[in-house]
Amino acid sequence: MELNDDKLDTIIGLVRRHTGIAMGRHKRVLLQGRLQPRLRALGLDNYGAYIERLAQDRQEVVSFINSVTTNDTAFFRTPAVWRWLEREFLPEWTVRAAFSSTAAPLRIWSAAAATGEEAYSLAMTCLEARRNFPGLRFEILATDISTEALDTARAAMYRGRSVERFERDHPEQFRKYLRPVGDAFRVVTEVSQYVEFGEHNLLQRPPRAAGFDLVMLRNVLIYFDAEAQQRVLAGARRSMHRDARLILGEQETITRLDTDFVFEQAHIYRIGD
Ligand SMILES: C[S@@+](CC[C@H](N)C(=O)[O-])C[C@H]1O[C@@H](n2cnc3c(N)ncnc32)[C@H](O)[C@@H]1O
Repeated sequence: MELNDDKLDTIIGLVRRHTGIAMGRHKRVLLQGRLQPRLRALGLDNYGAYIERLAQDRQEVVSFINSVTTNDTAFFRTPAVWRWLEREFLPEWTVRAAFSSTAAPLRIWSAAAATGEEAYSLAMTCLEARRNFPGLRFEILATDISTEALDTARAAMYRGRSVERFERDHPEQFRKYLRPVGDAFRVVTEVSQYVEFGEHNLLQRPPRAAGFDLVMLRNVLIYFDAEAQQRVLAGARRSMHRDARLILGEQETITRLDTDFVFEQAHIYRIGD
């Protein structure tokens, strides 16, 4: 089924409106590949009919969003970030918390969490840190716009490349925190109980105002144009405590943008004075 320029532009506009993801015409083949199964499932033989359907059917918009988002992720993606959490952020936060009068738990937001590997890696890292800092209490909110990715995340069942790499790079944690179930592995409840999953569009208001100590916003800004990036970062800022940290993906830099964040070290930003 051919996606002509006219319909392609309309679909690119719908992708941007619903997700913020900026695509050019060079994404024609990708969009065709992602959307053809939707047209087939709905018994439609042209993109014009599909566009009309999207205008009338909220449920199809959900499937459209699931189809056009890319949910690649991994356990313990970008090792330097996890080393920083383990060696700097968590010890420092725990010491600060011990002297604070609020006794609030460490609150972490895994924004654009995809299929959940990042959120579970966070829970495992906090559990490991708790061996040295028994008083560490934490909660993790993991959100994404893709309901399909969130279903996978909640099921906490992983297979293939995702678990192979995890087992190779972190054998001890792998054995401790994953259990075989058929041809897959499930994250144990001891870990998953700390993670709450929810649907959230980063273009909308953050899920919690001024509540987070750490926000992971990784490998999602790359899909947005500068205007959407700025909007998403302003939302992230509103969700954070004054001394919280923001973590971005390896290929993401925000120094060109007008934000409240200042670079601290690779991938890590704090709120400026
Ligand atoms: C490549 S994954 C990154 C996953 C994880 N953060 C990581 O770094 O491994 C990008 C995720 O961003 C999500 N996403 C895209 N647009 C979004 C939006 N407007 N709001 C929330 N999530 C969005 C996608 O559904 C996808 O799961």
